Amino acid sequence: MDKYAVLGQPVAHSASPRIHAAFAQALGAQLSYEKLEVAPAELAATLARLHEEGYAGLNLTVPLKSAAVALCKTLSERARVAGAVNTLIRDPDGWRGDNTDGAGLIRDLRANLGVALEGRRVLILGAGGAARGILAPLLQQKPAFLALAGRTPWKPEEVAAAFKTLGPVAPRTFLALKGDRFDLVINATSAGHQGEAPRLPPGVIAAGTMAYDLSYGKAAEPFLALARAQGAVAHDGLGMLVEQAAESFLLWRGLRPETAPVLASLRRAA
Ligand code: ATR
Repeated sequence: MDKYAVLGQPVAHSASPRIHAAFAQALGAQLSYEKLEVAPAELAATLARLHEEGYAGLNLTVPLKSAAVALCKTLSERARVAGAVNTLIRDPDGWRGDNTDGAGLIRDLRANLGVALEGRRVLILGAGGAARGILAPLLQQKPAFLALAGRTPWKPEEVAAAFKTLGPVAPRTFLALKGDRFDLVINATSAGHQGEAPRLPPGVIAAGTMAYDLSYGKAAEPFLALARAQGAVAHDGLGMLVEQAAESFLLWRGLRPETAPVLASLRRAA
């Protein structure tokens, strides 16, 4: 029986074990998938131990995705560009790091929600690891305009400069967005984990905007409530979670599970 696990802190709320158990059942695969609470300081030792114990693959969640980059033997191009890994694949001599978050987001937007990004105006809120993880795949979709906004100009400017060769990213402060309109606004801040929504000038989100939060559950609620109060259609990141999991499953086992029934059952449970 192949062993898998998701590592994070906190990890108790993670839906990944349920998702992978559902994939395994649908495909008749024999595997185990655990949650392991791991502090950043314990990550290196834990990854070495799990490799020794024969784990076939791992997922990483907050706050381990960036720290794990330096602990991988090899990295995929998209993980290197994102500066973060969410999927580790067992190689004989160490872990291979990959990142399926961006692919999961694009898949959720396009296939599940029917959103075409080409020629549209897109705004990303936040300039941390989560924003970096989705920038390259979003640029590949050829939006007409892609802005990245933060509370201060420094991080958005730094991130825009780092991604310059992949496409134009306009760095902004939240305040400077006044008067701008977007087709899609993606919340990639960690504000929701503190029970807050990013403070945007009125009008940035309006009727006709689609709002999307990369998180799900409680953490997504403040932003979704803000967006809906402004008349926008708003989606949480549960679909992205299921899609990134399917991409990880594919990397580990060579088969892409069907996601729709798993997403529907998670929505029923929530
Ligand atoms: P992650 O890996 O989840 O992206 P991170 O790298 O700490 O975490 O980045 C979190 C982002 O959310 C940052 O851009 C942060 O803004 P600052 O750079 O100004 O700190 C943003 N953020 C956190 N709390 C926020 C809040 N209450 N309102 C708006 N943005 C917030």
